[in-house]
Amino acid sequence: MAKDNLTAILYGINDIRLEQTPIEEPDHDEVLLQMGCVGICGSDVHYLVNGRIGDFVVSKPMIIGHEAAGVVVKLGKNVKNLKLGDRVAIEPGVSCRTCAFCKTGRYNLCKEMVFCATPPVHGNLRRFYKHAADFCFKLPEHVSLAEGAMLEPLSVGVHACKRADIGISSKVLILGAGPIGLVTMLAAKAMGANKIVITDLTQSKLDVAKKLGADATLLVKNNMTETELVKKIHELFDGEEPDKTIDACGAQSTIRLAILVTKSGGVAVFVGMGAAEVKIPLIHALVREVDIRGVFRYANDYADALELLATGKIDVKPLITHNYKIEDTVEAFETAKSGQGVIKVMIYCN
Ligand SMILES: NC(=O)c1ccc[n+]([C@@H]2O[C@H](COP(=O)([O-])OP(=O)(O)OC[C@H]3O[C@@H](n4cnc5c(N)ncnc54)[C@H](O)[C@@H]3O)[C@@H](O)[C@H]2O)c1
Ligand SMILES: [Zn+2]
Ligand SMILES: [Zn+2]
Repeated sequence: MAKDNLTAILYGINDIRLEQTPIEEPDHDEVLLQMGCVGICGSDVHYLVNGRIGDFVVSKPMIIGHEAAGVVVKLGKNVKNLKLGDRVAIEPGVSCRTCAFCKTGRYNLCKEMVFCATPPVHGNLRRFYKHAADFCFKLPEHVSLAEGAMLEPLSVGVHACKRADIGISSKVLILGAGPIGLVTMLAAKAMGANKIVITDLTQSKLDVAKKLGADATLLVKNNMTETELVKKIHELFDGEEPDKTIDACGAQSTIRLAILVTKSGGVAVFVGMGAAEVKIPLIHALVREVDIRGVFRYANDYADALELLATGKIDVKPLITHNYKIEDTVEAFETAKSGQGVIKVMIYCN
């Protein structure tokens, strides 16, 4: 087996280095993967720029990367679901499988969760990486490794839409047209939403959303009042109100708007992660029975996200705007940081 295991390690703020690390031996229930593609996520960039996200602090060098796919090159002795040569998408969070959350299918809430590139756990931006076999999803031949890596953000979108109970008659408002807003929009459309309106501060992001299937878009200006925004959004729904609002931004203004704009009896789902505390018009939600629901990553969504890709109901390829080799990881992160015309930066590991 090759000895080269070039690895992207985050040492601290704005300090990513490429170094060799040992190729790990898979345990009985794990597989060794030759890594194919790893996408750069907003959280990776956040760790690079700030050295932390909330209480998760990069206090010692951490291998970066969690949106990934690879090829099985070695099998642990108990692995039955995969074969050598299988191309797989890697679900990056491995839970304990035995606690009540795991057993009832809400394993994203497991307290023992081990999640790639969330300090102190290492990620998978390297040439070789081992992972629990039951958190690897075999890709059909016509789904590329880059698309496989995109299953990670897409699963967030699928999970958000399931939390919102999106169905055939849903009128869906999505706040924020970054990568997460866009995958949520694609998932909502695939899950049958009747109408989707998406907002952003940047027109070019809305242009992309429109191209990918948004029914209407709203360019938010900082001087618009809440009342104005609510009115404009209701107009875009032809005088009706969205019964599902998904905040894919996390700003106080979008969190407030999600509550104010949603139809009575509807659902406001919060995906965006901003400040730990924000001021919200809770009474508004209370007296109109607008359900407030959080989203934390995904649980049992990878297979569904893959199904949507494999059947052509969702095409994530237009979201991949930049491609780099692992050797050029530093430059790849510079591009992701710049944000200019960037949706998803993909890194090829071999
Ligand atoms: N809950 C989870 O499990 C989970 C998973 C992944 C990402 N996230 C969070 O989801 C959010 C979105 O992720 P992303 O990668 O798309 O981030 P992003 O920063 O690329 O996208 C956010 C978008 O919101 C837009 N925006 C900012 N203020 C706005 C406003 N007032 N109105 C409308 N749009 C506005 C920005 O222009 C940007 O396009 C982030 O906060 C991220 O941390 C949460
Ligand atoms: Zn991510
Ligand atoms: Zn558990």
